[in-house]
Amino acid sequence: MSVALWVLVGVAAAGTLWAAALSIDGAWRAMSTRVRLARHRARTRPLPLRVRARHDVTDGLFAVELSHPRGRRLPRARPGQYVTLLLRDADGVTHRRAYSVANAMRRARHYELVIRREAAGRVSPRLHHALMPGAIIDALPPRGAFTPRASRGRPVVLLAGGVGITPLKAMAESLVPRGAQVLLVHVVRTERELVGAAHFRAMASRHPRFMYAPFVTRPSDEWTGYTGRPTPAWIDAHAGAAGIARADVYLCGPDAMMAALTAGLRALGLNEARCFREDFGCASPVAGETPDEVVPHRVALEGTAPVVWQGEPTLLHCLEEAGAPELRDCGAGHCGSCAVRLVSGTVGEIRPAQWPLRPGEVLACCVRPTSDVQLGRVGAPVGRA
Ligand SMILES: Cc1cc2nc3c(=O)[nH]c(=O)nc-3n(C[C@H](O)[C@H](O)[C@H](O)COP(=O)(O)OP(=O)(O)OC[C@H]3O[C@@H](n4cnc5c(N)ncnc54)[C@H](O)[C@@H]3O)c2cc1C
Ligand code: FES
Repeated sequence: MSVALWVLVGVAAAGTLWAAALSIDGAWRAMSTRVRLARHRARTRPLPLRVRARHDVTDGLFAVELSHPRGRRLPRARPGQYVTLLLRDADGVTHRRAYSVANAMRRARHYELVIRREAAGRVSPRLHHALMPGAIIDALPPRGAFTPRASRGRPVVLLAGGVGITPLKAMAESLVPRGAQVLLVHVVRTERELVGAAHFRAMASRHPRFMYAPFVTRPSDEWTGYTGRPTPAWIDAHAGAAGIARADVYLCGPDAMMAALTAGLRALGLNEARCFREDFGCASPVAGETPDEVVPHRVALEGTAPVVWQGEPTLLHCLEEAGAPELRDCGAGHCGSCAVRLVSGTVGEIRPAQWPLRPGEVLACCVRPTSDVQLGRVGAPVGRA
């Protein structure tokens, strides 16, 4: 064969190999897109749940166990994750609210939720009435990144305020039986709000490396335990032999409590890189001494009628009123569901966004308008597919 023929054969073979590589690459990309889409659908497909038990802890606090209506296994919630309940109102509008799963799910076939009824809230009072035994409600499967990190033998300190016990209860139930050294502090107003107290005491009697420390700020005469709030020095002294500096710390509770404890513990050597907080997205409305002190701003979102912001806690509250309740998922800057494009105007941050955003995007649950704003819709949030 002549040299020219060999060259021709070589070129043809290289071309065939190149085409094969391209088609393998194309097939691989198509498959990984399909896998990502399937995962995305599984994460966002509503799941029917039936209330199989309910316990009213106090007038404004109730616990429910939710299982699959036909007894199927539920998608596993990692300790600290939340499910999003979807409540449809009489006008056909679906409201979404996140609730931490309060039980470790290694063997359980149910999600335990503990819900505080917000007197002025739009959804929790309705859930309080609707979630009776036998009721069915849709929910989005568990998600969330507030989950225990590998602690490599470090002691774990769980600091809960009020209903903030929910994700930390699941963490304690998961970590303690595995032999981790755990301090669980729960601060409440009255001892009746001590969700799971008997269960934690029983756990502490079985596991010597687990300490349960309930603190009651307005105790009854019968209460013989800790009163008031724990000081950072108290936590440091009970956080293991090397104190708070060596511990992994998880906090969930009112913003003021988390801020005060973190500041106090920082002064005692808290390792910021090993300190994790869950934010329930509670923001107060902007209040002036007179209504005139709140400067109203026009909020216009593509595809909805403009509304006026008059001090609502977040831009998201305004957009829900404008008829876009589907934007909400976590309500606390974790999930990217409420990302919108800021076409014109300005906003002020009320909590840091913990979600990657494209330039020009904001998370509506993390900001308030500081001028009239024009907003555009965005596609699938970055990293969501
Ligand atoms: C990850 C995560 C986990 C959570 N886990 C739990 C849990 O385990 N248990 C639990 O109880 N909660 C939990 N939450 C909080 C929960 O999702 C809801 O935010 C909570 O139940 C309040 O909902 P709501 O609809 O009753 O109140 P919202 O209607 O959202 O109102 C919240 C507050 O804002 C004020 N407000 C609302 N709208 C307006 C308005 N238009 N103008 C002025 N003020 C307004 C109200 O005064 C109210 O006090 C969690 C949140 C997150 C993000
Ligand atoms: S609703 Fe989840 S980030 Fe805003």
